[in-house]
Amino acid sequence: MSWGIRSFNAVWHPCTQMRFHEDLPPIVIKEAKGVMLFDELGNSYIDAISSWWVNLFGHQNERIKNALIEQLNQLEHVMLAGFSHPPVIELSERLAAKTNHQLGHAFYASDGASATEIALKMSAHYWRNKGFSDKNQFLALSNSYHGETIGALGVTDIALFKDAYQDLIRISPLLPVPYSDNNDEIQRCLGFAQEYLEKHHQQLSSIIVEPLIQAAAGMLFYPKGYLEGLSRLAKKHQIHLIIDEIAMGFGRTGSFFAYQQTDVIPDFICLSKGITGGFLPLSAVLTTDDIFAAFYKNNLAQGFLHSHSYTGNPLACRAAIEVLNIFDEDNIIEKNHSRQPLFDQLLLPLINHNSVKSYRHMGMIWAFDIDTKKPQFSRECYRLGLKHGILVRPIGNQLYFMPPYTITEHEFGQLVHATLKVLNEVSL
Ligand SMILES: Cc1ncc(COP(=O)(O)O)c(C=O)c1O
Repeated sequence: MSWGIRSFNAVWHPCTQMRFHEDLPPIVIKEAKGVMLFDELGNSYIDAISSWWVNLFGHQNERIKNALIEQLNQLEHVMLAGFSHPPVIELSERLAAKTNHQLGHAFYASDGASATEIALKMSAHYWRNKGFSDKNQFLALSNSYHGETIGALGVTDIALFKDAYQDLIRISPLLPVPYSDNNDEIQRCLGFAQEYLEKHHQQLSSIIVEPLIQAAAGMLFYPKGYLEGLSRLAKKHQIHLIIDEIAMGFGRTGSFFAYQQTDVIPDFICLSKGITGGFLPLSAVLTTDDIFAAFYKNNLAQGFLHSHSYTGNPLACRAAIEVLNIFDEDNIIEKNHSRQPLFDQLLLPLINHNSVKSYRHMGMIWAFDIDTKKPQFSRECYRLGLKHGILVRPIGNQLYFMPPYTITEHEFGQLVHATLKVLNEVSL
């Protein structure tokens, strides 16, 4: 079927200048299987970015599909206030176990930005319940991204998403981030944080960070020593640490949660994206006994009254349980580790391509800094990628792969081969 621009404009797409679709209409995907997307014209594409980093185990994953069918035949939804259901209880206990029971209380929503909002609100409300209502300011890192609702934009530092709404947002101060292992640079950034915290701790509720990699800013890696130092400073000054694992959680960096590569114990973690393997919208904020206890009172107003109609939806929770089952039963973390030498080998021609200035890798993320000053690079690369059968969406001049973990050796090789064709054709 061929669609006109009027049909396309009936859908207002996210992260899109709709007018650009006059040149390149949206690709209408009819089916998907594993890492492959199939459009209505018979073209296929390798989903090299897991459909915005959500799909962990391939499209149409049989196990998640079957679990959902089973759940559909039992309970599709029930409100979570006053009621509960087996999937939400099991999921909460299983997530707690993944944190070694250090974050044993889960609060649910449906998207990442809402998880950010929940963590920020919960942190400030904690201090209010404790009698410190002035502790209601947040700190974020430069180049951060935590979502695009008005509250989440307050701790996001990406001008393109933020500038138009400056007047609507309570903008949080930003801390500098060291983007190298150079100890002087790490200490310089921590020194800045220390000075800021010493001066403002009485007004500060929490610091929110993406762990180890700032994804939306272009897969920017920073050293774990910085996160550990920041955590120590936050603890010393009684400021919560919120770790936003929305993009990096669920094995993406090589550990189940990225913070588990450090000695940090956060006060909150935010989860979404991979939590349901890309099947259904779900997010969660996990927190500690201490935070939970501050809300556990005889008085309604001291409870955490935030709610969404679909909070803890049984289908989404059941999908998430199956994701955890797959992790545990199929040893996904170990399997991903053991495949790294193979991936490294397949990537060699790309790493050595003359347009690649530098290359970074962690877990199931590969990022390439492309030597270009062309502002159109990202769009052109996306367009050429489609021509060569791959879905890639570079961020500025950062080209990256974050494929489903089920990608085969052959598919990974095809992805590299197609990317080389794109880099040979794109104007740099
Ligand atoms: C680290 C991080 N936090 C929050 C979000 C927002 O999630 P959502 O798009 O589901 O609102 C994202 C999305 O990319 C993210 O990468």
